[in-house]
Amino acid sequence: MTKFDIIPLSDALGAEIRGLDLREKLDAETISAVEQAWYDHIVLAFRDQDLTIEQQRAFASQLGSLAPRGGEGGTKHEQAISENVMLVTNIRENGKPIGTLPDGEMMFHHDTIYKPKPHIGTLLYAIEVPSKGGNTKFNNLYKAYDALPDSIKERVKGRTANHIYDYVTISKANRKSQAGDLRENWTHPVCITHPRSERKALYVDRLMTARIDGLPEEESEDILETMFDLAERPDHVYEHEWTPGDLLLWDNLCSAHARTDFSTDERRLLRRCQIESDDTPRE
Ligand code: SIN
Repeated sequence: MTKFDIIPLSDALGAEIRGLDLREKLDAETISAVEQAWYDHIVLAFRDQDLTIEQQRAFASQLGSLAPRGGEGGTKHEQAISENVMLVTNIRENGKPIGTLPDGEMMFHHDTIYKPKPHIGTLLYAIEVPSKGGNTKFNNLYKAYDALPDSIKERVKGRTANHIYDYVTISKANRKSQAGDLRENWTHPVCITHPRSERKALYVDRLMTARIDGLPEEESEDILETMFDLAERPDHVYEHEWTPGDLLLWDNLCSAHARTDFSTDERRLLRRCQIESDDTPRE
């Protein structure tokens, strides 16, 4: 096994892993120690990495099956490099983004929560970053679940929430709008048991969760607002300021993430791939 150090990044969540070169194939014992650190700390940061697309994919596939890119199939640049890799970038060619999720702030969200089997993990690798902003924030939804008042835990027990993603605007989808063919939606338990840690996590987010099924609309809104505020409470959040060469691996079931705003005049380019889950989330 290759020895590495685990240095916590905040009281909320996150740890930096020092001592691993991700260009190399890691042995099974090292991978299982990395997985344990991932479950314990939710977000792992590997700094100063120098990864080709193939090396990023190879590391990701040691943690599970790589997911197809999804979305609307990707841009021609994305299609040219790999079926699993998304370019998260504001770089444009002839006025059109060469990748996905190009500009500005994004509210907290779980990747693919609007699908039957949301991905368990995401790996995002920074190549170019703006001088200011474009940070990614992560929250600890185990802590948010623990902080929920008992009356709310009881009220949502056995209930599901509906999640919608609008591919066109990346803003919160309007459930009543007519653009149904541009959206995906699915329903999952409001609180889930993480399949690997067996711990309970809140499973809603401000960008994609539309409502709690079976509750009157006003009550659903009130409970969701309380949940979003708890999930985003500063002591539940770690904010990552990117440096080129950072690779972040995050748990997409017990954490949601958000992006801070950044200037349209500066380039931002990151490469993302995702790991599939075996199961649908359970309460
Ligand atoms: C994402 O939601 O996967 C993108 C996050 C980011 O651009 O920081």
